[in-house]
Amino acid sequence: MHVSEFLSLVRGRSSCRSYLDKDVSDEAIGLCLEAACLAPSACNKQPWRFIIVKDKATRLKVCEDCLLPAIPMPWLKTAPVLVVLCAEKNFLTHKAAPLFSGIPYHYIDCGIAGEHFVLAAEAQGLGSCWIGWLNTKRLRKLLSIPSNLDIVSMISLGHPAARGEQPQKKSIAEISRRIGD
Ligand SMILES: Cc1cc2nc3c(=O)[nH]c(=O)nc-3n(C[C@H](O)[C@H](O)[C@H](O)COP(=O)(O)O)c2cc1C
Repeated sequence: MHVSEFLSLVRGRSSCRSYLDKDVSDEAIGLCLEAACLAPSACNKQPWRFIIVKDKATRLKVCEDCLLPAIPMPWLKTAPVLVVLCAEKNFLTHKAAPLFSGIPYHYIDCGIAGEHFVLAAEAQGLGSCWIGWLNTKRLRKLLSIPSNLDIVSMISLGHPAARGEQPQKKSIAEISRRIGD
């Protein structure tokens, strides 16, 4: 693959906040999960766990009871799939090592795997949006998520009804600096 193809995939993605009333095939979701499985992770612990919610009644309960207030997301009810991204923490890598480095590796790992998932969705013409404004206590209860899993985020998934505009992104000069040349 030429880098220009990769960049056009990445450029084409933007958070999708409006979905068609159309099922997403298990095959398509499977390909997204396959991409997620291939992500790098600290000590190769692969802490990511994906809970796929397709059942309509459960999705509506998530939307009605498990989002935090003040930022309404009515569009989320249109998403035919909600993916809850969790982390299963390993004692050494995710609890002991961060005491020395100060770096929460499991969040990084799940972020990478989640974005692999999102880009594989994009490559299949699907839209997605990360959702972090969650009442994790209620979500845990509703989906019976065991206490050994940390809830990291959620991702909505579906066939886009409308594409959001690419929001303004910072320039390369703003986000990087060079040392040594
Ligand atoms: C960790 C994380 C949490 C987010 N939470 C929400 C959210 O709760 N609701 C929402 O509408 N968008 C959410 N977003 C999407 C961001 O608003 C969006 O990525 C950002 O505005 C940049 O837009 P773009 O994705 O179209 O490039 C989240 C994104 C990330 C990475």
